[in-house]
Amino acid sequence: MKSSKFNRRDFLKTGAAGITLAACNEVLAEELKPLSAKDSGRLVLPLNHDWLFSEKFTPAAVEPKFNDRAFQIVNLPHSNKRLPLNGFDEQDYCFVSIYRKKFKLPKGVDGKRIFIDFGGVMTAAKVYLNGQLIGENRGGYNDFSFELTKNINWTGENVLAVEVDSTERKDIPPFGDLIDYLTFGGIYREVQLRVVHQTFIENVFAKPQNVLRENRSLNIKTFLRGEQKNLTLTAELFDGENRIASSSQNASSNAAEINLNNLGSIELWNTDKPKLYRVRVTLSDGGKTLDHYDTRIGFRDARFTPGGFFLNGKHLKLRGLNRHQTFPSVGGAMPARVQKRDAWILREELKCNIVRTSHYMQSPHFLDACDEYGLLVFEEIPGWQHIGDTAWQDLAVRDVDAMIRRDWNHPSIILWGVRINESPDSHNFYTRTNASARALDDSRPTGGVRNNYDSERLEDVFTMNDFGFPLKEPNHPLYLNTEFNGHMFPTKRFDNVARHREHTHRHARVHDQIASDKRYAGGLGWCAFDYHTHDFFGSGDRICYHGVSDIFRLPKPAAAFYKSQCSPEEEIVLEPAFDWAGGDENERFATALVCSNCERLKFYVNDKFIREAEPDRKTYPHLKYAPFAVKLGAFGELRIEGFIGGKKVIERKMSGKGVDQKFVVEADDSELIADGIDMTRVVLKITDEFGNLRPFAQAAITLTAENGEIIGDNPFPLFGAGAIWIRTTRKPGTIKLTAKHPHLGSKLVEIRTNAANPF
Ligand code: GAL
Repeated sequence: MKSSKFNRRDFLKTGAAGITLAACNEVLAEELKPLSAKDSGRLVLPLNHDWLFSEKFTPAAVEPKFNDRAFQIVNLPHSNKRLPLNGFDEQDYCFVSIYRKKFKLPKGVDGKRIFIDFGGVMTAAKVYLNGQLIGENRGGYNDFSFELTKNINWTGENVLAVEVDSTERKDIPPFGDLIDYLTFGGIYREVQLRVVHQTFIENVFAKPQNVLRENRSLNIKTFLRGEQKNLTLTAELFDGENRIASSSQNASSNAAEINLNNLGSIELWNTDKPKLYRVRVTLSDGGKTLDHYDTRIGFRDARFTPGGFFLNGKHLKLRGLNRHQTFPSVGGAMPARVQKRDAWILREELKCNIVRTSHYMQSPHFLDACDEYGLLVFEEIPGWQHIGDTAWQDLAVRDVDAMIRRDWNHPSIILWGVRINESPDSHNFYTRTNASARALDDSRPTGGVRNNYDSERLEDVFTMNDFGFPLKEPNHPLYLNTEFNGHMFPTKRFDNVARHREHTHRHARVHDQIASDKRYAGGLGWCAFDYHTHDFFGSGDRICYHGVSDIFRLPKPAAAFYKSQCSPEEEIVLEPAFDWAGGDENERFATALVCSNCERLKFYVNDKFIREAEPDRKTYPHLKYAPFAVKLGAFGELRIEGFIGGKKVIERKMSGKGVDQKFVVEADDSELIADGIDMTRVVLKITDEFGNLRPFAQAAITLTAENGEIIGDNPFPLFGAGAIWIRTTRKPGTIKLTAKHPHLGSKLVEIRTNAANPF
């Protein structure tokens, strides 16, 4: 094909930008625009569009003049490979690739310093600007920045080249031995340029103090780079647009501290009402703003004690799940909205109050959403059972530093995990990681997840993976169970009813035991969502079916147990943890498990009253909302009524017909941003006439999309339920997604896509 000069504007007009496609034309340098025109001091220039990508790295490809016309045009976050739903090999994405980005700086920035910030590149990155190596990062989960000032072309075109090594490098945590998860590859988080004054604010740690007392205050530590002669720092605390406190002082050192005192009327952050405030630190020189730094905080007092965990002085039993950050098709390369949705699912759908970011630092968007929804977080460094040599350990200590500096302002984070998950004792190494965490942040305890009960405790909280039942007795005053179930009982969403009942029961019985003893601060089950893994693990298709929800984040019956543990004031829950079928059991109608926070349930079959039941307090004596276990012994249309205080408060019906009645296609969002990056999940499922999932319904679903890109298998092999994700193009308008079921007809889903913020 004859190549022609292709103007980026024309490219935008086609609306095709943002979609991974073969580029046969030259992409011109993007003229960057700052994120906000109001900004004084720093400029932030998002750098997520129109990268050029090739799966094959060659040394010549870092040169500015390299002919990249055969490269693909991609947007970030980007996965170096699109993968099928299951049954693929990690070698499919373990390669060294190259990304190129051409840009021009905006006018008026000469004399400033330019940095490039990467949110995360899997697994190692060498960054070149205009042919010069600027820096190298080893680690797929830490954010990193390089200064470009010396090599930048201030007026003309700049060519950035990133050599991305996505192999499982033994010199980089978590690698060195087998691990039970896949890491995927690519520049899978966002990238930005940052233009700052010669002296600038590198970071701010805003630490609430004496939160439960009248004299609560905020200690704000500002980290400066560059000369600090005669400069002033001002710290302000905002509630929405209202400034509620401020103070100024000389920027006398590169870690200057300001205290905002007597913050009497502050509203506390908690899991039900996660109130957030904004802190702005401004660096100025005689009234002229040189830089500012914004961060969000919450005031809360989080404490592990021998009598359990306390939030703002109130006992709170921690009930949660572990989360892997990976998704079908694109691994970790999901945009902000999808990352945030996981926090929503955990808090609002599964009613958890804590999540563990197993086993690495996760997306900042996910953590932002944890702050917003009131989901507590145990965050930890990358690693899985294996400890490498000294250089490897140095990287793990660097990860402690990177994790804490990036995330110390999140009120949701209550514990830093500074041990390689389930690794053996390593006195010197863990003395280092603990010391590093404590030096950076004296306001949060450390934890370190182990599976050896007798291991050395150098951390504050003894965080233990205990897969047995009954659980071991707490052997340390501050004790948290960080994993149970998982590989002990893998359960597919399309497994039979007996297995789901046992799966649900296993989650419930552990939480029952945890509820029995205040010394357990709580428990985090393994795990929230099914995930891709290596051949040694998983169910033969490289998926660990350990989730209470599947890989599409769709609940299995065990998810109903978590959901049912909220108070009825929050939501009345009545979830049958079974599929209503005449004979999917060994003994026909065995015991049906219902997860509910009602006081009593009544069961009717074909409108005939069968039984009344109370929660199964014999099996679960300690749970506030014990599941109901009921033998029904009759079949037909089932109705379950839930009662609280003698009043009927909820009703569920289940068909006994065994017929696929409805094909349901539902997008999580009705509006998206037309930036070629934003995505939403579209759930596909077959239900009975009352909306209950039919878990064994099978069909090949054919999908077509206008003005959007389908992320997922197409045709989609529907087995009861599943999902694809849809990505916007840069053309505002409407995405029209048609999903065709072979005999239940077609469904059209329309999603509005609004023009992206023009910066
Ligand atoms: C644990 C491990 C997890 C996961 C789980 C499966 O030992 O920490 O990452 O592999 O087992 O049950």
